[in-house]
Amino acid sequence: MPVIAPLSREHDRAGFDCGVPELNVFLKATARQHGEKGISRTFVLTEEDTRILGFFTLTLGEIQVDRLPAGYVKKYPAHGLPAVRLGRLAVSRRHQGKGYGELLLAEAIHRTIIIADHAGLIGLFVDAKDDNAKSFYERYGFMPLPSHPLHLFLPIATLRTADGRSNS
Ligand SMILES: CC(C)(COP(=O)(O)OP(=O)(O)OC[C@H]1O[C@@H](n2cnc3c(N)ncnc32)[C@H](O)[C@@H]1OP(=O)(O)O)[C@@H](O)C(=O)NCCC(=O)NCCS
Repeated sequence: MPVIAPLSREHDRAGFDCGVPELNVFLKATARQHGEKGISRTFVLTEEDTRILGFFTLTLGEIQVDRLPAGYVKKYPAHGLPAVRLGRLAVSRRHQGKGYGELLLAEAIHRTIIIADHAGLIGLFVDAKDDNAKSFYERYGFMPLPSHPLHLFLPIATLRTADGRSNS
């Protein structure tokens, strides 16, 4: 049964390959250090052993109201607004297409809701690395920001609906 847990020293990072060198290197060389320094938190998916099948990274951020899609600009005061950023999401090449990406995204959304309930935030942001990644995120309601077609936003109301669905 798949388990998603915070990245720890016990996890086997060495064999992970999602096909994107930059994401592999981040998991192997940076994710734990960033976790310890409080820069971000990485969560990994494993199944029957310590091999990592996929991971995602969350970090806190701030978004300027004028970067939001037009319909949202009027809803908020004109200053920096609290947000969570999905810094990275990847599934090992051998395990892509089995639903693990969706499972990891559902967990990222769930953890974002917990942060929202304790501190408040307006949504989850992600910079998709290309159009392929963008179309994955758009399936779940992410919408492009006017500033850049690959910069995407999932508003808090959509997050809550998605989290309710995956927990029911
Ligand atoms: C993008 C990625 C995370 C998707 O993970 P995955 O485990 O292969 O995806 P899943 O099996 O959970 O797919 C869930 C659904 O999304 C669909 N999907 C998967 N990748 C998709 C894509 N690029 N575009 C559109 N839909 C996609 C699947 O067909 C599936 O739909 P279905 O349930 O109707 O069959 C994975 O391919 C990956 O790690 N790619 C390399 C790294 C990367 O691009 N990360 C994005 C960070 S910017």
